[in-house]
Amino acid sequence: MKGRFYGDDAPGEEKFRRQRRAPQGRRRVAALTAEGEDTSEDDVIARLKALGHVTEVLAELKSGKEATAYVARGPRGTLLLKLYRDLQARSFQRDEVYRAGVYIPDARAAKAMAGRSRKGLEMLHQGWVCAEYTHLWHLWEAGLNVPEPLVGPSPFDYSATAPAVLMRLIGHEDQPAPRLSEASLTPEEARRAWDQALSGMADMLRLGYAHGDYSTYNLLWWENTVTIIDFPQLTTRQNPHFRDLLARDAQSLATSFRRHGVQASGDATLREVQRRALGPGPTPRVLLP
Ligand SMILES: Nc1ncnc2c1ncn2[C@@H]1O[C@H](COP(=O)(O)OP(=O)(O)OP(=O)(O)O)[C@@H](O)[C@H]1O
Ligand SMILES: [Mg+2]
Repeated sequence: MKGRFYGDDAPGEEKFRRQRRAPQGRRRVAALTAEGEDTSEDDVIARLKALGHVTEVLAELKSGKEATAYVARGPRGTLLLKLYRDLQARSFQRDEVYRAGVYIPDARAAKAMAGRSRKGLEMLHQGWVCAEYTHLWHLWEAGLNVPEPLVGPSPFDYSATAPAVLMRLIGHEDQPAPRLSEASLTPEEARRAWDQALSGMADMLRLGYAHGDYSTYNLLWWENTVTIIDFPQLTTRQNPHFRDLLARDAQSLATSFRRHGVQASGDATLREVQRRALGPGPTPRVLLP
């Protein structure tokens, strides 16, 4: 059996539109462990404790459309635990665009994924979680401002934590870093944040990536520094939609920065990012042999 490209039967451009964000919620963890509620999340947290990655979950930080973020403690300090929802709750529609062009050598696996069988959904789910770790490791080692991944770099280690992704918390345990979308900035801070956001996007482009959901909703602001988050949908140049995703990121970044008084068009933003991508990048944290 020959392999095939994921997304051979992907839907058209209309699937591109940004989906609305779910409202933010803050619940104490005690509320989650109430009888009959969220037992699967409890099971995952129990497994993470048994594996020694987590010692205590302190609070739920935010519940998004695909994952819930918790503040937790572990052997290496305060961490952010991102727990992806179960299979039934996920649509995997977004995968179609982002995974397009990815070659799946095992045709049976490719067919299961395309057909959305139970096994296929499981593979997609695992792939989505592992993609976030893989990207986080690559970007962190390359010296970008992203949270330090706390499990890995071997996929054997981090696949054991699925459907959770563990990374260092930006900010403090009782005061996690705000997103740029909700931070209030002075004009000088806004200028700095914009500059760093452009460079961050350029740094990813230099490595051959488009973030795929780049805006102030996925940029944290802490101690005058921008940190990029949320990477499962990162795409590479092999994706036939790469240029469109890049242009859409530039537009989203520009639009979302308007509330901070930055006025730039999507086109001008993209040109500036491309210009910076030709220049030198950050110093790698890990030097490859
Ligand atoms: N390393 C981190 N340190 C501090 N806060 C974080 C960190 N990573 C994520 N967060 C917080 O958790 C939220 C959810 O994270 P993320 O954006 O990765 O998940 P998501 O499910 O895609 O959420 P959304 O649907 O809102 O984009 C972020 O908006 C941010 O407030
Ligand atoms: Mg996000």
